[in-house]
Amino acid sequence: NDKSTVSITVVGASGDLAKKKIFPALFALYYEDCLPEHFSIFGYARSKISDAELRNMVSKTLTCRIDKRENCGEKMEQFLKRCFYHSGQYDSKENFVELDEKLKEHEGGRVSNRLFYLSIPPNIFIDAVRCASVSASSVNGWTRVIVEKPFGRDSESSAALTRSLKQYLEEDQIFRIDHYLGKELVENLSVLRFSNLIFEPLWSRQYIRNVQFIFSEDFGTEGRGGYFDNYGIIRDIMQNHLLQILALFAMETPVSLDAEDIRNEKVKVLRSMRTLSMDDVVIGQYKSDTKGGITYPAYTDDKTVPKDSLTPTFAAAALFIDNARWDGVPFLMKAGKALHDRRAEIRVQFRHVPGNLYNRNFGTDLDRATNELVIRVQPDEAIYLKINNKVPGLGMRLDRSNLNLLYKARYSKEIPDAYERLLLDAIEGERRLFIRSDELDAAWALFTPLLKELEDKRLIPEYYPYGSRGPVGAHYLSAKYNVKWGVDE
Ligand code: BG6
Repeated sequence: NDKSTVSITVVGASGDLAKKKIFPALFALYYEDCLPEHFSIFGYARSKISDAELRNMVSKTLTCRIDKRENCGEKMEQFLKRCFYHSGQYDSKENFVELDEKLKEHEGGRVSNRLFYLSIPPNIFIDAVRCASVSASSVNGWTRVIVEKPFGRDSESSAALTRSLKQYLEEDQIFRIDHYLGKELVENLSVLRFSNLIFEPLWSRQYIRNVQFIFSEDFGTEGRGGYFDNYGIIRDIMQNHLLQILALFAMETPVSLDAEDIRNEKVKVLRSMRTLSMDDVVIGQYKSDTKGGITYPAYTDDKTVPKDSLTPTFAAAALFIDNARWDGVPFLMKAGKALHDRRAEIRVQFRHVPGNLYNRNFGTDLDRATNELVIRVQPDEAIYLKINNKVPGLGMRLDRSNLNLLYKARYSKEIPDAYERLLLDAIEGERRLFIRSDELDAAWALFTPLLKELEDKRLIPEYYPYGSRGPVGAHYLSAKYNVKWGVDE
């Protein structure tokens, strides 16, 4: 309202994430009139640049939605006028006191609400939180801090990080981002399940044979190896993005849509899961490959990666939820970099129709005769259901066809970036899509023993060529559970 302001400080303003995601998302929110009337944005980083230089840097990152080009330039100008810069060290209380003074000036005596977005490496995390909370907290409104992964590298380091954060912040001030939760189709998962009659009754071991969560990128680390090599694909993608989707997929119906009710259910399902064991995991690392005269690098060719690195850039895993709903159903995950395509999807494979009258009309490949529901998170957002259908004509031949909801055909509006949704929620104090500490603990508990074993034994990953479909080991793993990875014919 008229009497309050929101100041958003992007700590680490010159970093990659700030440029690629945070500033563009803030502008999109501004354009959509989602930001409060009185707001200002501060970039905070070490380099000594001016407001004008920050604006110049930010302006290069802003884009307009395809369907909203009119006034876009003008809106950018107005937005940039609300952006400021403060140069300081991440561990200097004095520098944060100076920031506090600037923020106060902009707040002009209104109720001050402050959001700090920490877009900085983990080793300076706590220093920045300490300085921001001690020297630049709001005195009469709220103070919230958005933090990005990595949230530690295992149960112990994650718990230590949480303990340190809680020296300076209450749980409800901490907004841990998992940007996959802000993706349109991930948010839609609950809508699909809980507001349609036809899915929820089938959502159990009785009808579902297995569920697959697939993430693939068609590029490697390309210079980001410094961060990646210390974490690997299991920590980078599985323990957070894919596990979060799994939790939303498999949780029981929450009491309400309140953040605490939803997060309680997610914690419950995570705590019902079996700790991962080596037998149910396959790891891989990409190697160089030459195709069409072009040579693609191996992971260890990345200058920021040690030559003898065994860090997995690919992993496949089978997970199990030991509760009444999901007993015995394999939840397969597959995540990899430098594969043949870029996609993220959930595939739900249903059981066979018992005593199917039409079995002989399929030929021999009965696997093809089961239904499959695919939720394609990206690219080309879609939900489709593979059904068996009679091929029109005088014969009786069946094929598999799709009941298809392709977002770009159905909805003309551009889909907002995940960071827009999450920033807006943080400003509004909506915690549903952020990770609570007990959730994080439960997630780490599943993966920590496995990660330790992989590292202690220095297990050699299976090498796969850049741009391929990944190691064959992934197929042996799924075959062990009588499952085939879903693909679109
Ligand atoms: C990040 C990972 O969390 O997600 C990156 O650290 C990965 O390695 C990225 O590339 C993928 O996000 P998106 O939204 O591009 O699918």
